[in-house]
Amino acid sequence: MFLELNEEQREIWRWAKEFADREIAPQVEEFDRKATFNHDLCKKIGQQGFFGAILPEKYGGQAIDYVAYALMTEEIARVCSSTRTLFSVQISLVEMPILKYGTEAQKEQYLPKLATGELIGCFGLTEPNAGSDAGNQQTTAVADGDHYILNGQKTWISNGSIADVAIIIAQTDKSKGHKGMVAFLVDTNTDGFSARPIAPKLGLWSSDTSELFLENVKVHKDQMLGEMGDGFKVAMYCLDQGRFSVACGGVGVMQGCLDIATNYAMERQAFDQKIGEFQQIQHMVADISCDTEAGRFLTFRAAHLKNKGVRNTRETCMAKLFCTEAAQKAAYNALQIFGGYGFSEEYPAARYYRDARVLTLYEGTSQIQRLILGQDALGIRPANGKVSPTTTFDRLCGNYPELAGVS
Ligand code: CAA
Repeated sequence: MFLELNEEQREIWRWAKEFADREIAPQVEEFDRKATFNHDLCKKIGQQGFFGAILPEKYGGQAIDYVAYALMTEEIARVCSSTRTLFSVQISLVEMPILKYGTEAQKEQYLPKLATGELIGCFGLTEPNAGSDAGNQQTTAVADGDHYILNGQKTWISNGSIADVAIIIAQTDKSKGHKGMVAFLVDTNTDGFSARPIAPKLGLWSSDTSELFLENVKVHKDQMLGEMGDGFKVAMYCLDQGRFSVACGGVGVMQGCLDIATNYAMERQAFDQKIGEFQQIQHMVADISCDTEAGRFLTFRAAHLKNKGVRNTRETCMAKLFCTEAAQKAAYNALQIFGGYGFSEEYPAARYYRDARVLTLYEGTSQIQRLILGQDALGIRPANGKVSPTTTFDRLCGNYPELAGVS
């Protein structure tokens, strides 16, 4: 049973924490207020090897495991959710699907450059009329000799305007539903491809969120990611990866809220004592503290399954649902502890509160996570395919050999 970190995981955690405090934290407020993407920081993250975290060494990666990746993601989110979004999208929504579904030529072309940040990627699934209903893709891909012609619009695409390469999900034959969908690796400087940032937004001010427009974009068939008809499967795989990193982002937000709230509570005086000495403050701090630890362990469990190469949609959805909902409460409580000063942009509580809000929306709303988990628990549709539903008893007692010892 997984309960403690090994030395390598601890070392990576320390490394990520130091980087976040030294390189990211001092710049957060400035770029957030300017609502500007921090290109220099992005370059530095690439140079440090962060973007190559879980990629194999063969493609320029660090080949760390998913628990260590969870901790890196958490550390970045602890200081800045906008930077965490950049990091997560690059790795979970772009590199990982290329690693799983890409041809060797595609892997060699893209992965080493994504690992260093020389290329930035984005993931184009959501459309104005295909959000939660991801299968309702209106973007079309029409065969034209050795090429496909793509037409359509994508929205709420993180990294959309700064990306060099986009994974675009499209429909080749609406009558085939999910089975007509296809994924392409599209270089964003291709004729007919354009992007427009969405602003102003409630939060994530220094993260790029954009609409994408595809007007007769011509892509070679060699740019197809996976096989014809694999588009929905590729998209769901991306989300199994992406939702994990958003869950880790939620843990980071909670840890950040705990840090600022406890510091403030032990400085601020009211009624002749530190406000942290009042039980009502202690209760709020206790809730943040419990949720942070519970959420972290849910991410570790999903990470452990990922390390074993076991299907983990269920555990990833659980982690995503719990950590992102709990992050809302943590940000609320942290702001409450700051009192009136929490309402001011002069203090960090307001930014945590704004930035936390998107966590229950992007990469699948909480309602979508509940839909997947509810159908799984009821046996209507097993989230993990044939291995599910799995109770903790089944897992620990080894009724499912593929999960024996995995808790
Ligand atoms: N892995 C592999 N296959 C999967 C899968 C998974 N996780 N989930 C479903 N599938 C398969 C199913 O087994 C099924 O296969 P068969 O046809 O062979 O039986 C097929 O995909 C269709 O599945 P469903 O019938 O369950 O599909 P559905 O249309 O009912 O939708 C859904 C299911 C869970 C609601 C899905 O549409 C969904 O996750 N929606 C939410 C979309 C989402 O999260 N969007 C966020 C976009 S990313 C973003 O936020 C942008 C950013 O930049 C941050």
